Amino acid sequence: MGSTITLNHLGKTYASGHRAVHDVSLHLNAGEFLVLLGPSGCGKSTLLRMIAGLETITEGRLLLNQQPANDLPPSERDVAMIFQNFALYPTMTAAQNIAFPLAARGEDEHSATRAVHAVADRLGIRSLLTRTPARLSGGERQRVAMGRAIIRHPAVFLMDEPLSSLDARLRVRLRAEILSIVRRIGATTVYVTHDQAEAMALGDRIAVLRDGVLQQIGTPDELYNLPANAFVASFVGTPRINLLHGTLYAPIEGPMTLSMGTQHLVLPTEMTEQQQHLRVVQGQPLLVGLRPEALRVGSATTAYERPLSATVTHVEYQGHESLLHVTVGAVTADPPRTAFDHEDRNETGNMLSAAARTLLSRVRSTRPAPSPVTAEPAPPLPQHYQGGELVLRAPQGVSHSLGDRLPLLVDIRSLMLFDGTGHRVFPHPTHVQAF
Ligand SMILES: Nc1ncnc2c1ncn2[C@@H]1O[C@H](COP(=O)(O)OP(=O)(O)OP(=O)(O)O)[C@@H](O)[C@H]1O
Ligand SMILES: [Mg+2]
Repeated sequence: MGSTITLNHLGKTYASGHRAVHDVSLHLNAGEFLVLLGPSGCGKSTLLRMIAGLETITEGRLLLNQQPANDLPPSERDVAMIFQNFALYPTMTAAQNIAFPLAARGEDEHSATRAVHAVADRLGIRSLLTRTPARLSGGERQRVAMGRAIIRHPAVFLMDEPLSSLDARLRVRLRAEILSIVRRIGATTVYVTHDQAEAMALGDRIAVLRDGVLQQIGTPDELYNLPANAFVASFVGTPRINLLHGTLYAPIEGPMTLSMGTQHLVLPTEMTEQQQHLRVVQGQPLLVGLRPEALRVGSATTAYERPLSATVTHVEYQGHESLLHVTVGAVTADPPRTAFDHEDRNETGNMLSAAARTLLSRVRSTRPAPSPVTAEPAPPLPQHYQGGELVLRAPQGVSHSLGDRLPLLVDIRSLMLFDGTGHRVFPHPTHVQAF
């Protein structure tokens, strides 16, 4: 059965003076699967290694099954750690490597062999058991090492990007397998990744770290729909959430209006009447967050849709859909603070650079494509155009091309607003209203 894990104001300052983890408090129930998510260098491995006992804790307290564990040696924590790069014994076969923890425990050979076969079947490596590590591929070696960690049914699994060196197909397969194995064993699991899609697929809950500071801990659904701040909002979800600069006007009489550059959105009064705190941020610079699915091309509004006019600046063909980049005369924003790491994702979550996008736009703009819906007036294209402010999905079969003018509809129920420091102010952080 899994252990509970409690972190009480846990922190780590390295001997160099670098404070890699600040004041992290969280509690994992027995058997829970928690993902630690964050950009490179945010302190994920440091935190995991403190739980494993491989790194000293310099601040706060760690409890395993409610017992103080700060100074417990790793061997007494009933923890198995799985790293990105596993070390296997080079002279032993895969089977001997997997069986090693059982042999060390003095288990009899017959039951150890049975256990090795069962684990190897789960991981799809039964036919590789007689090979030594030198005769295995990287992915196969990784599965052998995983087998070695799994076989002794530990109370806690600590996994540090265990799948990141595998190809996409194997990664998806093994992540389903990992989930089913840890659920069956009932182990409590902390899984580190910087891949938000992997975090969303695996975690009962996800803890988002940035610069060693816990930003939010919640279910994948909470992180996606009610992110605590603009950083979490933009780290979770592909394509990335659209963030625009905006200002709110809240007159004494009549509805509140959100101004975004050359256009504005009128907010339904029934949506804002419970959110009077919004008056506090009126007139201040805000970040307007709109996920791609909050936008669609069309002109017939429903009660919660508001129109904008847009000009297509780029189309990314994706097969089952296209990603439309449009400009609406607003200014895009990044989450506050420069430390936000854009290293491996751009605003659409893929690796296309701004230069490549501009080039592609030019190529595609030469193709004549009829536009199914048009609207007037639309904002003019900026002179030195780099990319649109908004990204939305267009279904397969609907073709748009550069310069098309479109009526857009914004589903106001999905609107998020963040204040100048990046904290979410709408929907209200403590008063979440179901519309
Ligand atoms: N032994 C050390 N001494 C000093 N600083 C360290 C040490 N180990 C890590 N750091 C620093 O602490 C910070 C957090 O490192 P950590 O390895 O925990 O990040 P991470 O989130 O796991 O990153 P990645 O996704 O790249 O693996 C980084 O700035 C790193 O340079
Ligand atoms: Mg790491």
